[in-house]
Amino acid sequence: MAAGRQHDLEEVIRVFEMRPIGRVRSPFKETREIPKGCGSRHEAEGVLEVLPELERGLTDIDGFSHLFVIWVFDRSQGSELLGTPPNDDRPHGVFATRSPRRPNPIGLTVVELLRRDGSRLHVRGLDMLDETPILDIKPYLSSVPPEKLRRGWLEEAEARNRARGS
Ligand SMILES: C[S@@+](CC[C@H](N)C(=O)[O-])C[C@H]1O[C@@H](n2cnc3c(N)ncnc32)[C@H](O)[C@@H]1O
Repeated sequence: MAAGRQHDLEEVIRVFEMRPIGRVRSPFKETREIPKGCGSRHEAEGVLEVLPELERGLTDIDGFSHLFVIWVFDRSQGSELLGTPPNDDRPHGVFATRSPRRPNPIGLTVVELLRRDGSRLHVRGLDMLDETPILDIKPYLSSVPPEKLRRGWLEEAEARNRARGS
C-alpha cells in the first residue's frame, strides 16, 4: 500500500469518545418486554431526560412532532456481521438490520414528542430499555417520498410471514 493511502486509513480509524446527553426513562426493564418482529407497534411512552446543563439546547424543539433519538445499546454484548432477525428465518448483514449486536452499538429511534417539561421530553414510541444512555436528539424530517422507499429483505420476509399466517 502506498504511504499516502496508509496515512488516509489512519486518519479514518480513530476512536471517538462521547458523553451521553441524558438517559431514557422507559417502561421496559428487560428486553423481552419490548415488542419485536413483523407488524410490532411501538406505542410505549416515557421520558427523554436531558442533562439540566444542556437544557438551552432544547430551545425551539417543541414545534417538532417527531424526533430522532440516537442512543447506545449499553446492554448488548459483542457484535456479529451476519444475524437472523426476529422477523425472518434467514440471515442478513448487520448493516441491513437494526440488530443491537453491531460493531458500534448505536441505536436510532423515531419518537413522537408529546410535550416538554424543562429538560424532560415526554415521548411515545420507545423501543429501548429504561436508563438507556442518549447520545443525541435531532428533529425528524423525512424527505424521501414513499414511492421511492425500498424495504429490501423485510418486504420479502413480511410476504413470507403473511403467506404462513404469522
Ligand atoms: C431491534 S433494536 C432497534 C432499536 C432502534 N430502533 C434501532 O433501529 O437502532 C431494539 C431492541 O434492542 C434491544 N435493546 C433496547 N434497549 C437496549 C439497550 N439499552 N441495550 C441493549 N439492547 C437494547 C431490545 O431487545 C429491543 O427489542
